[in-house]
Amino acid sequence: MKTSPVEQLSPLEARAEHARLGEEIERHDRHYYQQDAPVIPDAEYDALRRRYEALEKTFPELVTEQSLTKKIGARPSEKFAKVRHAVPMLSLGNVFSDGDVVDFLTRVRRFLGLPETAEIRCTAEPKIDGLSCSLRYERGRLVQAATRGDGYEGEDVTANIRMLRSLPQRLTGDPPQVLEARGEVYMTHLDFAALNERQTAAGKPPFANPRNAAAGSLRQLDAAITAERPLRFFAYAWGEVSDPPAMTQIGMLDAFASYGLPVNPLTHLCKGEADMLEHYRRIEAQRATLGYDIDGVVYKVDDIALQERLGFVSRAPRWAVAHKFPAERATTVLREIEIQVGRTGALTPVARLEPVTVGGVVVSNATLHNEDEIARKDIRVGDTVVVQRAGDVIPQIVEVIDDKRPRGKRFVFPHLCPVCGSAAVREIDEKTGEAGVVRRCTGSLVCPAQAVERLKHFCSRNAFDIEGLGDRQIDYFYKEGLIRTPSDIFTLEARDRASLTKIKNREGFGETSVRNLFAAIEARRRIAINRFIFALGIRHIGETNARRLARHFTEFEALRETARDAAPGTEARARIDTIDGVGPVVAEALHDFFAETHNARELDALLAQVTLEPMPTIAASSPVAGKTVVFTGALERLTRDEAKAQADRFGAKVAGSVSKKTDLVVAGPGAGSKLAKAAELGIETISEDEWFRRTGQA
Ligand code: IVH
Repeated sequence: MKTSPVEQLSPLEARAEHARLGEEIERHDRHYYQQDAPVIPDAEYDALRRRYEALEKTFPELVTEQSLTKKIGARPSEKFAKVRHAVPMLSLGNVFSDGDVVDFLTRVRRFLGLPETAEIRCTAEPKIDGLSCSLRYERGRLVQAATRGDGYEGEDVTANIRMLRSLPQRLTGDPPQVLEARGEVYMTHLDFAALNERQTAAGKPPFANPRNAAAGSLRQLDAAITAERPLRFFAYAWGEVSDPPAMTQIGMLDAFASYGLPVNPLTHLCKGEADMLEHYRRIEAQRATLGYDIDGVVYKVDDIALQERLGFVSRAPRWAVAHKFPAERATTVLREIEIQVGRTGALTPVARLEPVTVGGVVVSNATLHNEDEIARKDIRVGDTVVVQRAGDVIPQIVEVIDDKRPRGKRFVFPHLCPVCGSAAVREIDEKTGEAGVVRRCTGSLVCPAQAVERLKHFCSRNAFDIEGLGDRQIDYFYKEGLIRTPSDIFTLEARDRASLTKIKNREGFGETSVRNLFAAIEARRRIAINRFIFALGIRHIGETNARRLARHFTEFEALRETARDAAPGTEARARIDTIDGVGPVVAEALHDFFAETHNARELDALLAQVTLEPMPTIAASSPVAGKTVVFTGALERLTRDEAKAQADRFGAKVAGSVSKKTDLVVAGPGAGSKLAKAAELGIETISEDEWFRRTGQA
């Protein structure tokens, strides 16, 4: 991971890192949300996200519709029925310092156009480390429960939620007709320990932490299993409410409690920054004795009318923020440094540690980032090291404890790929002429580590999305030599018939599953061009860049030819350089990929099997979508920031001055020259109220 401050990056470096991070985050999202099996700790994931957001903040040109900051989570898994959330279930932005909390309130005041001294009341409550869930009660009866999923569509876990003894099936008191109570499903430390004991006794693997245990227990297809797992719930938010019982956050939570829903007792209404920070400290001091995991404190603007005005920015509300707890540390011994080879051939060092408990979680692996990091900290096998995890599980080596060092040898980073033995080299950055931090295997087509990973990527949900061809099956087919390249997937059935159904009765494949798999493969012979480009696993080509390329070239052959010919300094390279959002690093990666003859051969084989379709276009969903709007005069219902945010939300672009390109002018009292200019150019002018009507808000 690069550690130089974002501000010191050149736009070029920022773009490359943004693309790389985007891909990495998407991969982790899939592991986390669809497979319930995160491969990195939350703290590390948070760090990736923070870095990604910082890049977009410093280099706003990196923000596009496809940006991950505009998405929440990942699509729900296929095994549960889907539930569309009437009100999206959003995520929270994170802050880490007292200063950040002050900034949060400053932003709130500024957005609302309030003076710096205005008192903003906020609630403060523990951030429960579980998984969020939306419980729908109609006439006081629990009728549906759904996980967050991607925020818009979750999984139906009604049968499982009914198994939670601590939750009322029927609300008490006087609840609204429709009430969607949202909150966190979690497991206590005691229940977690007992569950893991039972797991181990039954010869099953224990869960890594209470959150994973809670997620795994709730997302059981067999609700009887959920019934045996003691899950609990705290309500802290809501979705659809037919007749809101209160106009404040704290009032809503009080009402929830009166209906018999569990509400966290540490929830507190604060009068401002100082009060909030004080409550944060109070909660932090109790953290170890609460009996369940929390990873921070959530602040929410108490006044719901203000919450509504503040609204959302991409995936998180402007009216709430999570103040995370700092990292925790422990000391242990570094047993081994293992080098893993990823899909792109990057050699990543991983520390294998003597297991140690850090803040209640057993850590046995930590990231070592890269070769330079190991050298800089002079980390050696056998060293006593300080391990850190932020939030919940951090595997990061902060430092080596010198005086405990035995006379171990300095670690030498391998110059050969540990999987295939090809040379592993550090790419030279053309601009700076310096070596990049990552060492990469050059044997991309012969290296099994990369081939398997590339196949997994090819079949993954946002690429070819082939049902029944998951990681485990790919490992199997690869090992058996049945699938070695992407095109092999599409010839599998024909070859298999010839070899007398070799797959059947192996690795859990029966008659039906083989037939289903063949059908799933058939169903993917037609694929949108952007997905196809993404599926190829070209370096720096994530979903966003794949869409850009598809949009620009329309035809795959055009992309292929241009990229093939795009050696530096050629006319073809110049053409690629003109594509919006595609910089030299991406251009170089494209050229490398398409100019490689092995790849060309495989592409021919693949294109003989599949048919490419145009990229689906996003429907213009609101009457102002795609329009350029100018706001002028004294707006009475909106601040300028709000107006801009609303326009953005409805797909319109805001301009500062009226020109021929303007489609619509929204004018408040006192509008002067801009209004006159609009009249002169014959541009439609509407009032602020009309804006609300058109955008369906009035
Ligand atoms: S409020 C629109 N309050 O944290 C705001 N979230 O990092 C919705 N979480 O998805 C979230 N405790 O799963 C809220 N007291 C709390 C929370 C909380 C835990 C989780 C929740 C959310 C995630 C965001």
